[in-house]
Amino acid sequence: MLNIVIDGKKVKAQEGSTVLENVQALKIAIPTLCHHKELTPFGACRLCSVEVKTNGKWQLATSCNTPVESGMEIATSSEAAKESRKSAAELLYYRYPETQAVKEIAQKLGVDVSPETAEDHDCILCGLCVRTCSEVVGVSALTFQDRGRGRDIDEPEIIFDPNVCIGCGSCAYVCPTGYVKMETDGDRRIIWDKVFKMVPCPVCGRFFAPEDQLKYISKTTGVPLGELTTCVDCR
Ligand code: SF4
Ligand code: FES
Repeated sequence: MLNIVIDGKKVKAQEGSTVLENVQALKIAIPTLCHHKELTPFGACRLCSVEVKTNGKWQLATSCNTPVESGMEIATSSEAAKESRKSAAELLYYRYPETQAVKEIAQKLGVDVSPETAEDHDCILCGLCVRTCSEVVGVSALTFQDRGRGRDIDEPEIIFDPNVCIGCGSCAYVCPTGYVKMETDGDRRIIWDKVFKMVPCPVCGRFFAPEDQLKYISKTTGVPLGELTTCVDCR
């Protein structure tokens, strides 16, 4: 265990843990957007900034991807930390003013936001869908692609590979803005504009999973497909 100090309080921290994990263990609320505890840290949104003091020097750091070090001091609500989180929220809001999820977080962090209703669902490039697809589902149907080279747009974009996607919907579930649309209607599901055939449970008749997803689970686990075509509730 490592000895650290958070907001003046002495804390024992697990080696390899992040600043955010230790801050959250003390029930101190820090905003996050691109972070999920089951996924590798990404450090994209900078909303989780705090100040850390290592080797006698205070500096700003994104708490979700900063590992604790022995003797580290952490200040979660110093003026610099609060200002940094607000600036990150301002930048996001400046880019995506019509996206409700962004507007809400910006407002919470003290950014002046328009009273008009925000109705868009932009992709804010948080990477949650890409990481979920590869790290949790193990499929990698989504990737970031840099479209900047030689062009005047230098932001990456999310590329969808319809040949790999199994239609599980994890990306839609994890997306914080609602950009990933998934519609399930009877025997079909549409996600990223690809249509999937849904399988009906032979017991209750409910269309409960895309056929491609069941085939994928069967292939990766070795469980015969026939044993997966009954829904979990009826097994
Ligand atoms: S589609 Fe959603 S989850 Fe994926 S990067 Fe964009 S905002 Fe994040
Ligand atoms: S939550 Fe830490 S950088 Fe986004």
